[in-house]
Amino acid sequence: MSNVPKPPKPRPKPKRPAQPAPARGAGSVPEGVRLQKLLAGAGIASRRRSEDLIRRGLVTVDGRTAVLGERVDPTKVAVAVEGRRVSLDPGKLYYALNKPAGVVTTSKDPEGRTTVLDLLGFAERVLPVGRLDAPTEGLLLLTNDGELSHRLAHPSYEVPRTYVAEVKGEPGRGALRRLTEEGVPIPQGGTARADSVTVVDVRPGRDARSLVEVVVHEGRKHVVRNMLAAVDLPVVRLVRTQFGPLRLDRLAPGSYRRLSQAEVAALYEAVGL
Ligand code: URA
Repeated sequence: MSNVPKPPKPRPKPKRPAQPAPARGAGSVPEGVRLQKLLAGAGIASRRRSEDLIRRGLVTVDGRTAVLGERVDPTKVAVAVEGRRVSLDPGKLYYALNKPAGVVTTSKDPEGRTTVLDLLGFAERVLPVGRLDAPTEGLLLLTNDGELSHRLAHPSYEVPRTYVAEVKGEPGRGALRRLTEEGVPIPQGGTARADSVTVVDVRPGRDARSLVEVVVHEGRKHVVRNMLAAVDLPVVRLVRTQFGPLRLDRLAPGSYRRLSQAEVAALYEAVGL
């Protein structure tokens, strides 16, 4: 028996270095992250539903239909789900802030006043989209998404901004017509015209006060205050309640929140991204 040769021991298989699964899809990059993982991670849908959306051809990457299993670099591609752009880049931040009166829309104030960035209280570099005057309250969007920010602030994209103004006096028909049809001269030069002006409330009397909702699609400095002053309705209080599709709703003064994917998608849509 001792002469019977022992069978050779099976040699351990050589270990292969871990490799990403082969890239799939025309623009798939092997070092990227699987699309369904990114969609699920961004809270767009569960992993399984994300796979289903890709399988059904409802997800595009840079305009072409995505393939299940493909890997993408979320910082470099534009992904859309059912035709709506989604933000998959974890480095992109989008916040809505309810700016209180007295807080300035700059990153540093030489007079030492509280800035909108002080209110956010964290180090990530986001910047306000456009500006609100120091006494103006309400909705301010802050982001580090440069292209979106540029388009939202640029008048050529005509993103409507809605303000509720408390004014001295009572708006007559002539004032409303001038504001919305003829346009009124403003100190910067030229004229300004509102998309709409709606009288919300009037408290008549010697010290009459009114509430008016004004929609404009530009961000020139003091534009709403100047327009209302031009028709003898000086502003006592000004609150921005809406910026494009984004609403202030019940965000408490001085507080902020991250935008949802649906809100970011609606902003992209508003400026054709
Ligand atoms: N128009 C104004 O007059 N002030 C603002 O802060 C914003 C728009």
